[in-house]
Amino acid sequence: MDARVLSRYFITFEGGEGSGKTTQIKRLAEFLRREGHRVTTTREPGGTPGADAVRHLVLSGAVEDLGPEIEAILFAAARADHVENLIQPALERGDVVLCDRFHDSTRVYQVVGTDLDADHGERLEKAALAGLYPNLTIVLDVPAEEGMKRAGERRGKATADRFEKDDIALQERRRKAFLKIVRDEDTRCVVIDGTRSPDDVAEEIASLVEDRLAAARLDAIGADLKTA
Ligand code: TYD
Repeated sequence: MDARVLSRYFITFEGGEGSGKTTQIKRLAEFLRREGHRVTTTREPGGTPGADAVRHLVLSGAVEDLGPEIEAILFAAARADHVENLIQPALERGDVVLCDRFHDSTRVYQVVGTDLDADHGERLEKAALAGLYPNLTIVLDVPAEEGMKRAGERRGKATADRFEKDDIALQERRRKAFLKIVRDEDTRCVVIDGTRSPDDVAEEIASLVEDRLAAARLDAIGADLKTA
């Protein structure tokens, strides 16, 4: 069997502002590297030069007045570039890819509290992903009030970006929308309580991912035996 197939695994992290995704991705990457996996970490919007340009455009608020549909198109364009030029090649090399936000963020941020047409959102998602859905999505759940407090502390004197400046009520609706995605797709998605200490959260994530990678490895061996 091709050893690279054993690690190829795509994990996305989702959640509201200040839910601890960035810290936990770093911790998980360190854990997986210690276990001998090759790991690529990345984030959205961004990850490639083209997608980083879109990141600046959207998060600065420069295109906010153009409406949620245009913002959704821009996120989808950035994602298509990111998938084609960074995520897919890393998976083909056999890496575990850890991505800070992905398509569920569009499903939540561009849809909740906006008038974006659901069918249009779905078409954009399909075009951007080109069939590459995550193997596992970890939703870090933190009440909006606590998340906003953490995000404010992290930001210090810098101004809030396009989405951080939205009020608590909208942030709480986004939180509920992430939790609904977990309920609707409970094979792909797992919710983790992000209010506990970073060490406790990291331990739970490491054990979850270890189990999922072991299961994927068994599936790959089974598929290999069938074709042998
Ligand atoms: P970022 O600075 O990366 O912060 P964090 O992920 O820690 O919150 O900000 C990314 C912002 O972009 C965040 O407010 C969510 C938003 N976003 C969308 O609205 N749609 C998307 O598809 C993605 C990927 C992000």
